[in-house]
Amino acid sequence: MTESRIMVSPITELFGAEIAGMDLGSADDATVATVEDLLLRHRVLTLRGQSLTDQQLVAVSTKLGRLDIPAANPYGEPFHKANPEINVISNIMEGDKPAGNLGAGEAVWHADMTYQETPPRAAILYALEVPPEGGNTYFADMYAAYETLPDDVKAQLEGKVAIHDASHNSAGMLRKGYNEVTDVRETPGARHPLARINPKTGRKALFLGRRPRSYIPGLSVEDSDALLDQLWAHAAQPEFAICHEWRAGDVLMWSNLEVLHRRDSFDSNTRRRMHRTQIRTFWSETKAAA
Ligand code: SIN
Repeated sequence: MTESRIMVSPITELFGAEIAGMDLGSADDATVATVEDLLLRHRVLTLRGQSLTDQQLVAVSTKLGRLDIPAANPYGEPFHKANPEINVISNIMEGDKPAGNLGAGEAVWHADMTYQETPPRAAILYALEVPPEGGNTYFADMYAAYETLPDDVKAQLEGKVAIHDASHNSAGMLRKGYNEVTDVRETPGARHPLARINPKTGRKALFLGRRPRSYIPGLSVEDSDALLDQLWAHAAQPEFAICHEWRAGDVLMWSNLEVLHRRDSFDSNTRRRMHRTQIRTFWSETKAAA
């Protein structure tokens, strides 16, 4: 597929782009390089009308970079046994067991797996079944959020990190092997700068991860909560956000360290099934570091 056939329509002035003329199922190396470049420029990419086998989803993801293998389900197995690289996001029950993660509830604003020292750079989410209503996914641009902070708040962030909670998932469920956090100063999880520079763009993004159980070491719990509440109220403003209303066959890709995302709840009697892969690091980063 040549780049000249691809049409890129920005979603807002800030970020997001709808991509037409790209068949991810047959993506060659040049297309994959274009995808990485488009992600860097637009942060969220929407592709409608894709028809991907699980193997094709894994193949295009693997061409982009090294994949994160999702954590085991509550029964200690991958949700997707044939392709353990795929995380199933679904409310569907298969017999008495859930087919995937997150159920039908709301997922609050978050970035994926930032409780890890090296959180995934990007995610690819492919819609196989969507409910007739609800379950929309929203993204918020964290470059814009950082760049519009008052200067005195930007100054407060210099040199500060936040703890990104590892104990709960984005649906608020306690992860296997963790205890409830009773003091946020002891929240388990990686520490990341509140203002993170993307080395490729040189731009700073507000890097918040998720609000519950977050804490800024060095501050009192009250001061940490006050600053985090202020940052979250700023970051979650509608002017920084876009909403995706899903159709089966949609693929969304996003730059996990530069955007937050959240999901609406939907009727648990309807079916929603998404297959997701996560790019832990792009191959281009590995080559640049070599
Ligand atoms: C997620 O939070 O990664 C899931 C998003 C979605 O289900 O739309």
